[in-house]
Amino acid sequence: MAKTLRTHDLISMKQAGEKIACLTSYDASFARLQEEAGVDVLLVGDSLGMVLQGATTTLQVNIYDMIYHTSMVSRVCQRPLIITDMPFMSYQSAAQALGNAGRLIAEGGAHMVKLEGGKPVLAAIEKIVANGIPVCGHLGLTPQSIHELGGYKVQGKTEESVKKMLNEAKMLEQAGIKALVFECIPSPVAKMITDELSIPTIGIGAGVDCDGQVLVAQDMLGMSQKQPVFCKDFLSGNDSILAAFKAYVTSVKDKSFPEKEHGFD
Ligand code: KIV
Repeated sequence: MAKTLRTHDLISMKQAGEKIACLTSYDASFARLQEEAGVDVLLVGDSLGMVLQGATTTLQVNIYDMIYHTSMVSRVCQRPLIITDMPFMSYQSAAQALGNAGRLIAEGGAHMVKLEGGKPVLAAIEKIVANGIPVCGHLGLTPQSIHELGGYKVQGKTEESVKKMLNEAKMLEQAGIKALVFECIPSPVAKMITDELSIPTIGIGAGVDCDGQVLVAQDMLGMSQKQPVFCKDFLSGNDSILAAFKAYVTSVKDKSFPEKEHGFD
């Protein structure tokens, strides 16, 4: 039986310079193929609201959806570390955050939970971590704040916002997160912050210098209505979904993905 990757394995991979390959996963059929392809981390993302449920944002996804989809993934996987998103409005107080994180672990079978944001979510993160649940942070474009951000736009483009992101990344690390997702930020900013942290960063639209990469599986299979600019269609040129997942893992590990065109300056 394959040994499940743990948070300390991700930190060892960062230290060894081995890139972490992560994909979103929402069900057993994809999860099985992703494990077979050697994907290290499966993210049960609340992007399932857009990808599976057909919504225009992630805001209507709830804790029951996340438990349901996580359980389908965790039931069939052995080696990958499973991270599950805490959905919108499920971590407004520290006590509520702990209760919902506990459900994702106990009922869903997740190994780690992910929360979006910086300073405002520190108390929730500290409470979850203090109770033995690993946490992943998420900075940059945080889709649960879409109405405040005013659209799906690249973040960290001003000196002030970069300073804030660096400070928040350090605060999150101090609060005990074990990994950090960067979404849609300039590649040089992602590199600078990655170099400052001892925990691994996992980027999407954040350049090749993050410690790992994540894509929405349906996007990298060319199934989305509109392919994001930071994505590549790995099914094109490969004859099966399994082959596409394998090509993605190889490209992340040998740093041929993402290329410059998949990032922002
Ligand atoms: O929900 C999701 O799939 C995510 C990734 C885009 C990082 O958070």
